Amino acid sequence: MALVTGGGRGIGQAVALQLADAGARVALVARSVDELNHTARLVADQGGEAFVHVADVTDAGQVAAALASITARWGPLEVLVNNAAVVSPLAPSAMLDPDEWAGAIALNVTAVARLSFTLLPAMLERGWGRIVNVSSGIAAHPAGMLRANAYATSKAALEAHTLNLAAELADTGVTVNAFRPGGVDTAMQAWIRGQNPEHIGAALHDRFTRNYEQGTLLTPEQSASLLLPRLATTATGQIWDAANPT
Ligand SMILES: NC(=O)c1ccc[n+]([C@@H]2O[C@H](COP(=O)([O-])OP(=O)(O)OC[C@H]3O[C@@H](n4cnc5c(N)ncnc54)[C@H](OP(=O)(O)O)[C@@H]3O)[C@@H](O)[C@H]2O)c1
Repeated sequence: MALVTGGGRGIGQAVALQLADAGARVALVARSVDELNHTARLVADQGGEAFVHVADVTDAGQVAAALASITARWGPLEVLVNNAAVVSPLAPSAMLDPDEWAGAIALNVTAVARLSFTLLPAMLERGWGRIVNVSSGIAAHPAGMLRANAYATSKAALEAHTLNLAAELADTGVTVNAFRPGGVDTAMQAWIRGQNPEHIGAALHDRFTRNYEQGTLLTPEQSASLLLPRLATTATGQIWDAANPT
């Protein structure tokens, strides 16, 4: 049984559909109920089982309630895909609201760690678990996306968290890996293109617009299909990069 955060749209939705296609029951958690229900319908249409729980994963109480209702229904979680994240705030750092910066870290890093730490005891007891943290290529090149300090910081921290946890859990049967999904045509990319170039920087805006117009973005399905086969392996402590699949 699998939990996908941010399973209502984009990469999370595609991962959820492919997990369901592989035979997993999928729990979907995010804030937008309509999007979650839409994904659940798509899972049902392909003959799978999905369970929706609306929650903001930065809220410890909402996460606890979500996990309680999911495990009460289906038992312990075996697969956790920490996919939910934001790319915002995008702005010159001198103009950033530090609270907004901290909010991005809370979602992109702290919420991921909280979910993993909470599910770990049951995974360790069973001697089997799969944790995947959806990262970004920016973690390899933190200076490559100017005015995205929170995102660069969060994804680098996420990968350090992933590798440290994987090393700690070596030989337990619980694997922990990061997945850089590549440039993917999702709402997150559309949001970046919709920002004022003066605010986020013309170079950044032009790059994301060009990638879209030149058709170089992956579809969410293409990106997810580069992750799914990895989950069947015992590999741990890896950073799987859709831009450089090996
Ligand atoms: N698209 C790309 O090119 C790209 C590139 C590199 C890495 N990534 C990574 O891939 C992952 C998915 O990105 P995407 O492009 O699919 O983004 P997206 O379309 O914006 O989807 C993000 C998902 O996260 C959920 N989410 C956001 N805040 C949340 C919160 N506080 N609590 C619960 N759920 C929350 C959203 O649902 P609600 O808003 O309804 O909560 C949504 O389902 C992210 O980790 C992102 O950093 C994407």
